[in-house]
Amino acid sequence: MITLKGRDFLTLADFTPEELRYLLDLTHYLKEQHKKNADPPLLAGRTLGMIFRKNSTRTRVSFMAGMAQLGGQAIALSPDELQLSRGETLADTAKVLSRYLDAVLIRTFGHEEVLKWAAEATIPIINGLTDWVHPTQAVADLVTLEEKKGQLKGLKLAYVGDGNNMVHSLLLGAAKLGVHISAACPPGYEPQAQVVALAQTAAQDSGASIEITSDPKTAVAGADAVYTDVWASMGQEEESEARKKVFAPYQINMDLMVHAKPDAIFLHCLPCHRGEEVTAEVVDNPASVVFDEAENRLHAHKAILAAVLVSPVI
Ligand code: CP
Ligand code: NVA
Repeated sequence: MITLKGRDFLTLADFTPEELRYLLDLTHYLKEQHKKNADPPLLAGRTLGMIFRKNSTRTRVSFMAGMAQLGGQAIALSPDELQLSRGETLADTAKVLSRYLDAVLIRTFGHEEVLKWAAEATIPIINGLTDWVHPTQAVADLVTLEEKKGQLKGLKLAYVGDGNNMVHSLLLGAAKLGVHISAACPPGYEPQAQVVALAQTAAQDSGASIEITSDPKTAVAGADAVYTDVWASMGQEEESEARKKVFAPYQINMDLMVHAKPDAIFLHCLPCHRGEEVTAEVVDNPASVVFDEAENRLHAHKAILAAVLVSPVI
């Protein structure tokens, strides 16, 4: 029996394929229950604290709504208003918050910060995005892929764009669940070798293949799903203009989509910039499932919360 009770949720690298399977199954279950107006009150009396050092629409609102749907509540903790901003240590803050809250969600810059929170807190810490990885998004993406294609094993996911936090989590999640992944990134913007190595190890067990290329057409060829993300992530705003030139050949447009399978879907974590990493024609096309994907954040987040706080048997 799988239990994730008490675990932190920091990177998909920390989870076995069976644990990820449990999270996906729990997500599908909680989505079905929500559609039947029968959300189980799994988190009654539980409180989530949320700390955002970067902007967020989907992560912030879906975690808050998700807590409410499962009978709990969420409190937004503005970092500027915590004593943390006046010099109270992270360790003391984490210990104090652990006495009030049941879990803390953190979105920040350096991944080391969530590791410090996890080391100091006695409650689960959930990574709501760092510069290194975006694991809650990748769970929702895999759920969406499975929902649209009926399976995961053997599918081909193409990622075209920056070798950033998003592709890091997709590489780890896809490799563990048997999804072939091909990432096309400009030279110098590839995913970290350390993450690719972790994915390759996981792929040996699942039968997935991992390909890193600089050619978008190679990545997209025969793909079941095509994924992209912004060219300049949060914190890279100053590089934005320079990146537009480097990444121009990596835009997802109709000319590139024709290389994927005829029934390929388009995914994007959002927010997107129409006319940059993806054309409006692609993102607003019937093959684009970006809003179902955004909705699935809600159900995936409920699953992650329920898993680390209760681990219900489903
Ligand atoms: N995809 C995602 O994490 O969206 P937000 O930045 O709006 O949370
Ligand atoms: N790579 C993007 C993802 C946003 C959801 C960023 O970090 O800004």
